[in-house]
Amino acid sequence: MSVRIDPSILSADFVNFQREFETLEHADALHVDVMDNHFVPNLTFGLPMVKRMQEVSAKPLDVHLMIENVDVEAVKYAESGVFSVTFHLEAANSATSIAKNLRAAGARAGLAIKPNTNLNEVVELLPHFDQLLVMTVEPGFGGQALIEHTLEKVAKARRLIDTEKLDVWLQVDGGIDESNIERVAALGADTFVAGSAVFKATDRNAQIDRLRGLAEAGFKHLHL
Ligand code: DX5
Ligand code: ZN
Repeated sequence: MSVRIDPSILSADFVNFQREFETLEHADALHVDVMDNHFVPNLTFGLPMVKRMQEVSAKPLDVHLMIENVDVEAVKYAESGVFSVTFHLEAANSATSIAKNLRAAGARAGLAIKPNTNLNEVVELLPHFDQLLVMTVEPGFGGQALIEHTLEKVAKARRLIDTEKLDVWLQVDGGIDESNIERVAALGADTFVAGSAVFKATDRNAQIDRLRGLAEAGFKHLHL
């Protein structure tokens, strides 16, 4: 297992994305939060912005859709050439068809669940996906505190992925910072979104390195 650190650009300066991207050289991917003010009570940007980001970013884009109508909309993001597209199970009618379409368009397929969605709901679906995103806060805003009970799902998801020998990255998003990343890695997450924890730092690359080091330390005491 290797650690991936994906800074969330929700914490970036929205009128200077290109400049902000250039401060994140040590990132594995840039996490791009698309919100429609319906699925979540916040609005960010949509497809035209993501297309333009894809043109200027030196890093792969990990798109997190917090929007409705994903059965129709998700594939459009994949077609823009981004690295991965993650949509919410709660917004989907046919999660497996969407996954198929995302992969056919050349993107990794990601499935996200909100804090109160049971992991049992994804068990059958997981073989169709490349990434599972266990939300560790209610989606919508950066800077919230991690919700402790979501970590049980992280541990369960790791056991499921390993037992079934699935090639699925286990991503966490929300409230991840230097105080908890080691513990969350020890439960089996391998892909870490961090917004405020990265953007608050004066040296963002040093902060990414620090988070990575702590997560790697967590892997050493993985309790499965
Ligand atoms: C929240 C977004 C997150 C957010 C995380 O709904 O999905 O990606 O940017 O921000 P932090 O790391 O500040 O909790
Ligand atoms: Zn996100």
